[in-house]
Amino acid sequence: MKTELSVNVDHVATLRQARGGREPDPVQAAVQALDAGASGITVHLREDRRHIQDDDVTRLRALRRGILNLEMALTEEMVRIAVDLKPERATLVPERRQELTTEGGLDVRGRADSVREGCARLKRAGITVSLFLDPDPEMIDAARGTGAGIVEIHTGAYANAWGTAAAERELARVRAAALQLERIKITPHLGHGLNVENVGPLLELYPFPEMSIGHSIISRAIFVGMAQAVREMAEALRRA
Ligand code: PXP
Repeated sequence: MKTELSVNVDHVATLRQARGGREPDPVQAAVQALDAGASGITVHLREDRRHIQDDDVTRLRALRRGILNLEMALTEEMVRIAVDLKPERATLVPERRQELTTEGGLDVRGRADSVREGCARLKRAGITVSLFLDPDPEMIDAARGTGAGIVEIHTGAYANAWGTAAAERELARVRAAALQLERIKITPHLGHGLNVENVGPLLELYPFPEMSIGHSIISRAIFVGMAQAVREMAEALRRA
């Protein structure tokens, strides 16, 4: 089974926002990523609009190419934007203004009712809902009954443990989470901190249908260009 690649282009917008101008354009990066074989594009429209802007999301939607995955906090404003825009997928993530990037998974247990209601509103608009969750058995169990069809397992702890003895333990947690999701009929995806080196062991664990990868691809693209960076990642997924 092929593992599809959703390329997160937030960091292209981060660079643009550093100058407040138009370059580099995350939509141009998205087109290049799709041309190079990405199956979809992920963007996180944050409440503070620190990188991706509303206009970027509108222009990405207008492309009508690949699966547009809108990462978003579960707020009234974001649900309204998503329902209006109708991306193929919405991934619900926690959001704290002080964080450098999404630091932990969504607390589904702590807010089960609002997650269920948010999922229902998004699904009524024809959007597939994904929840970004830590590989924690109780959190995964809480995803049951929310209406989400996908759980993106947070691989940040695994990525941080890469190259240390703790990596094996993190791999075991990811595998257990994937099997638990399979039992409750939710599709497991992966994301956060992934690169050409650390994706291999994950794909030995389970045939994950999709990975969402941003930072390592955009970092590599600075040196070899977007198309080559995406091809290298797609090749790493194929090899694994
Ligand atoms: N998936 C989710 C839910 C994220 O929040 C992020 C980071 O924005 C990613 C995937 C991509 O992570 P990275 O940039 O570390 O590849």
